[in-house]
Amino acid sequence: MDDRFSLRREVDRGPRFAAAVQSGLGAVRKTIPPQYFYDELGSSLFGAICNLPEYYLTRSEEEILIKRGDEIAAALGPVDRLVELGSGSARKTRHLLDRLAPGGLEYVPIDVDVALLQQVGRDLLHEYRKLSVAAAVCDFRRPSRVLRDIVEKGSRTAVLFLGSTIGNLDRGETVAMLRDLRSVLAAGDPLLVGADLRKSKAILEPAYNDILGVTAAFNLNLLQRINRELGGHFDLRAFAHRAFYDEEAGRIEMHLVSLRDQSVRIDDLATAIDFHEGETIHTENSWKYGDDDIEAMGRESGFDLVRRWTDAAGWFGEFLLVAQ
Ligand SMILES: C[S@@+](CC[C@H](N)C(=O)[O-])C[C@H]1O[C@@H](n2cnc3c(N)ncnc32)[C@H](O)[C@@H]1O
Repeated sequence: MDDRFSLRREVDRGPRFAAAVQSGLGAVRKTIPPQYFYDELGSSLFGAICNLPEYYLTRSEEEILIKRGDEIAAALGPVDRLVELGSGSARKTRHLLDRLAPGGLEYVPIDVDVALLQQVGRDLLHEYRKLSVAAAVCDFRRPSRVLRDIVEKGSRTAVLFLGSTIGNLDRGETVAMLRDLRSVLAAGDPLLVGADLRKSKAILEPAYNDILGVTAAFNLNLLQRINRELGGHFDLRAFAHRAFYDEEAGRIEMHLVSLRDQSVRIDDLATAIDFHEGETIHTENSWKYGDDDIEAMGRESGFDLVRRWTDAAGWFGEFLLVAQ
């Protein structure tokens, strides 16, 4: 590939996935962390979710980045480097790259899906002639592991965390992640966080229960992935997707529900997992935020909130924080 592209690998996916499945399905309350949704099929299904009529998140955030892109880019720049946590397809990033990249920029996408990082890197180098891409396969919960070697002293770095991916982390995990990120930034470096705001159940629940069943497929793909990569024997017809809004907590919970009593072998782990009817595997939380939540977590982690933008409906927020 182009010498403007480099790829670092901080995580070794195979053994980590096996360990996460072993400990998550061995627990009393079964769980699998959401980063394991994103194998090749999972990332494609997420791309499809972004186009669903019920999944307003992508459209609302895109509306902000298109309408307020000049203001946001002016508030972020000028920068030497644009880091993006959980960059995915970088579909919305392009609205900012159009404004930030003409003079040349190092783009640092961080994700767990290596194939997507390579594809997106190739596409962006083609689209933006003065861009260089330093991609990293890394768990964004500890971004300093890769950024320590990338961020140069005396340079200015902006960080993006879009798509309300922050909402997949609990409060403590968010603060730990932001502190770790802060440790490699210089005072004054900006961080733009896209976060989904609290709203009625009638809008939230359909976004995670689309009529075409794409979100259900995205969720069930986790079991398919265990079958593919770890020699699992899950019968996908014996599990169902469930997503609901816990209004008091302010989060969507996503689960896979066992439809019968069953025992499922996973050959590579030399184990069998017992499920009783109605038992669930908790696969994701998506936290929804009130007015002050992002500001409070930022302050606790060494960032000040300086601006925020919302879409016309007030459903989604773009928060600009600056390293203290
Ligand atoms: C909800 S998608 C958002 C993608 C894109 N930023 C957007 O706004 O559409 C989350 C992305 O983060 C990546 N991801 C999830 N958990 C991760 C983790 N712990 N470390 C690194 N990447 C992760 C996924 O592979 C996926 O591309």
